[in-house]
Order: sequence, then C-alpha cells, then structure tokens
Amino acid sequence: MHNNSLKKVLVATSNRGKLLEIQQILRSVPLELISMDEYFDSQVEIEETGSTFEENALIKAQWVYNKSGLWALADDSGLEVDALGGKPGVLSARFAGVNAGTEENNRKLLNELENISASDRSARFRCVLVLKTAPDSYLCSEGVCEGHIGFEPRGSNGFGYDPLFIPEGLDRTFAQLSSEEKHLLSHRAKALKSLLEKLNVLPL
Ligand code: IMP
Repeated sequence: MHNNSLKKVLVATSNRGKLLEIQQILRSVPLELISMDEYFDSQVEIEETGSTFEENALIKAQWVYNKSGLWALADDSGLEVDALGGKPGVLSARFAGVNAGTEENNRKLLNELENISASDRSARFRCVLVLKTAPDSYLCSEGVCEGHIGFEPRGSNGFGYDPLFIPEGLDRTFAQLSSEEKHLLSHRAKALKSLLEKLNVLPL
C-alpha cells in the first residue's frame, strides 16, 4: 500500500539480492522505496566506469536522479580479499568476466585461493551508499563486515559471494544465516544505518 505522505526513494539497483536486502532492512523506516522495475518500462543498464565504490555509487545515483527527479539510493559494494591484494573489489560482479554469473565468480575466487591456508584467507565486504537528494547534493555512507573465505560453498540464502564468506566470530557463511541474522552484521545494514543517522530518519 502506498502512502502519499512518505518521501519516495528510487532504489538505483538492478541486483535483486541487493534490492531485497535494502527493502528488508528499511522495512520500518518512513520512506517509500520504489524499485527500478516499478519505475522504468525496460531494464536499465548503467555503466559503472568508476574506480572506487563511491564513484560508482555516485554514477548510479546521479543517473537515476537525473532520469526521475526522485531521491535516488545507490549501493556499490563488493568483496576485498587480502591474499588477492583487495580483489575482486569494485569488479566483484564481473570477476570472472562481464557476462559471468554468481557460480563462475565464486569458482574463480576459490581457484585463486587454492593454495592459500585458512589463516591467510581474510576478507571483507564493503558497501558504499549514495543518496542523491537534490541537483547539487547527496549523502554518502559506508559499512564494512570483516571475515574470511571458506574452502567450499556452503548454504543457499542470500546472493553473490555469500556461500563463501564467513563473518568474523561465526563458523557459518552468510548463505547459512537467516536474512535477519545477516542484517545484524552485514556491510549493507551498517551502511544503511549510518545513512539514516545522517538523514536524521528513525525507524517508525
Ligand atoms: P555492484 O553492482 O558493482 O555493486 O556489484 C556488487 C557485487 O558484489 C555483487 O554482484 C556481489 O557479487 C558482491 N556483493 C555485494 N554485496 C554482497 C553481499 O551482501 N553478499 C554477497 N555478495 C555481495
């Protein structure tokens, strides 16, 4: 049900996993989230030409804001693996190639870490959010979740690299956690919390 008094925010992502998580985390926040599918007639592809998460988030938020005039919320995120010098980083979605799917990306990651021992598999997920609110202004926030990469995929929840990522302090992968459990510690949940603090919006 749509409430006209709520501020409309167009979520600038075509990644269904991200969209679902953002909707879940912001469920009790007084903002009306609109997906790209709801707003645009056809599938939108925004080229991510930046070299940092912030640049890419800004490119996506700016593009969607310019097209719609609505507040635009963009998420740019990825996995940084220390043994790979921070890769795949901003290229996380395209690690095994531009048309690669999740399974190929995950397989490539396991292959690249084949000879790396458990103690050297540290990694983190990073999420940068940009909320574009006016032609000349935007808010930006960041969230990080530390952990390490497992030796085989485990679990079927979540999306992307979730079956390979074990957050610090747990012995289960993100894909073995319920969505509520993931949102207690994820990079995306932390970035959204920080953004809401900057926006001065509190959950209802
Ligand atoms: P982006 O659209 O360039 O920001 O792509 C982000 C990519 O990073 C996704 O396609 C996933 O591969 C990965 N990623 C980001 N956040 C998560 C997460 O919460 N779980 C698993 N993979 C993630």
